[in-house]
Amino acid sequence: MTVREILKMGDPRLLRIAPPITQFDTDQLHLLITDMLDTMAAANGAGLAAPQIGVDRQLVIFGTDSVNPRYPEAPVIPHTVLINPVITALDTDLEDGWEGCLSVPGMRGLVPRHSRIRYTGFDQYGDAIDRTVDGFHARVVQHECDHLIGKLYPMRMTDFTQFGFTEILFPELDTSADD
Ligand code: NI
Repeated sequence: MTVREILKMGDPRLLRIAPPITQFDTDQLHLLITDMLDTMAAANGAGLAAPQIGVDRQLVIFGTDSVNPRYPEAPVIPHTVLINPVITALDTDLEDGWEGCLSVPGMRGLVPRHSRIRYTGFDQYGDAIDRTVDGFHARVVQHECDHLIGKLYPMRMTDFTQFGFTEILFPELDTSADD
């Protein structure tokens, strides 16, 4: 088990456009994914993108299995490894929702996102993934995939009155593992 350091906002490595992965089912790729799973679990994250641990590749993981202390109200999202993702918006209106990010520890912001999307890509074995999702699942995918094009959620916000410290905005949340 290797918990890797998560880069924080301000680090220029979070602003890069990640290139695609070209080789699937390699030892190196499986090792990277194991590290990402360990790192995400240790931080109670709902998702993690490779650039957040300094790996400049189009790879994200996400998923929630039971109650996540960072997102106690969130519905369950299947654990997914998503490589070289492509997102297609299936609606025209954006929906506001609260987001946090392991690279922006201790904070939350209200972020407009598409409420319904289709996403395609590949798993670690090179098998195709093609899903149509909505709600929190759609939000998490958009958030994680934004990390692959150098976007952190504050860069998607439109109302900065709805941005602040988690302990102030949501005093009832257990965020002790956040940072
Ligand atoms: Ni994030």
